[in-house]
Amino acid sequence: MKIYKANNQNIKLAATLLNNEGIVAFPTETVYGLGALASNKNAVKRIYKVKGRPNNNPLIVHIYKIEQLLSIVENIPLDVMKLIKKYWPGPLTIVLPYNTSSNISSIARAGLNTVALRMPNHPVALKLLKTVDAPLIAPSANISQHLSPTSAQHVKNDLSSKLDQKNDMILDSGNTEIGLESTVIDFTKAIPTVLRPGGLNISLINKIVKTSYVESNINEKKPESPGLFKKHYSPNASLRLNADYPLKGEAWLGFGEDPKNLNNFVKMNLSKNKNLEEAAKNLFSMLRYLDKKNVKKIAVKKIQNKGIGIAINDRLNRGAANKS
Ligand code: TXA
Ligand code: MG
Repeated sequence: MKIYKANNQNIKLAATLLNNEGIVAFPTETVYGLGALASNKNAVKRIYKVKGRPNNNPLIVHIYKIEQLLSIVENIPLDVMKLIKKYWPGPLTIVLPYNTSSNISSIARAGLNTVALRMPNHPVALKLLKTVDAPLIAPSANISQHLSPTSAQHVKNDLSSKLDQKNDMILDSGNTEIGLESTVIDFTKAIPTVLRPGGLNISLINKIVKTSYVESNINEKKPESPGLFKKHYSPNASLRLNADYPLKGEAWLGFGEDPKNLNNFVKMNLSKNKNLEEAAKNLFSMLRYLDKKNVKKIAVKKIQNKGIGIAINDRLNRGAANKS
């Protein structure tokens, strides 16, 4: 599967492919998305198939202008409008009641009467959306339950054999800026609820709308959001969290200064000077790198649980679930 540089000519080609039921992986500021026309049932079905995604897990609709939002949802509470005015385009996904006269495929919504939307803050994503001039669904462009891709090469590694050489495409625009997925907030609940902590800090959101976030909601049997099954975002190796040093046979994923005597270990460091944004940006690519070294276990240093560290810990906890 060839990777295409995300220049104007290739973005035009990508739009043409999308209009012909093709699939296009494209960069956003969070992670790479796997795009298809949100209104096209066949294309949406292919997205689920290519990812191996359970069909009860709905997709995020991506848009480039507010007019599109207005036609897709029932009505927008004033606070939500304030929130998106401030943070769109950006790493914020909102869930609202779906307007049944809109044409988002019900398969993309997993048959729910709600819909998730986001306006990505990336010039390539916005240009592609504008050229197609129709909403695109775009789950993270990885095999279901694997780590989200932060580069075009990650997408290729996961999905190359499943995509069509002629009708599908991977657009490359380097490494993504944030490295973790968007924050998902459900506004269909009496109290707005954080379904997934992500690129936009919950404390900033709470300044405009008070949200509830319960960490212990990570519930295997009945997740709040269909996509919030506990085991998710998993490397092949198992994770040992809050570690101080690696044990024999483990790889090391550090944060802050590394322990001494790591010479014989496979190792990476998320951020030597404890910068949480840098750690978020590195997390998935470093886990993918360590995974390729065929280690059985990765020992991960404790990460501060504040700001984007909350989203980092959410991914690490899910990645560590069901494994010892
Ligand atoms: O940053 C992102 O959000 C990336 C980029 C590509 O935009 N996309 C992404 O999509 O992470 P995905 O499909 O990997 O995750 C979407 C999440 C899932 O947890 C899904 O269950 C939830 O959003 N979701 C989608 N529609 C929903 C709905 N109607 N109600 C509740 N949760 C919903
Ligand atoms: Mg995903």
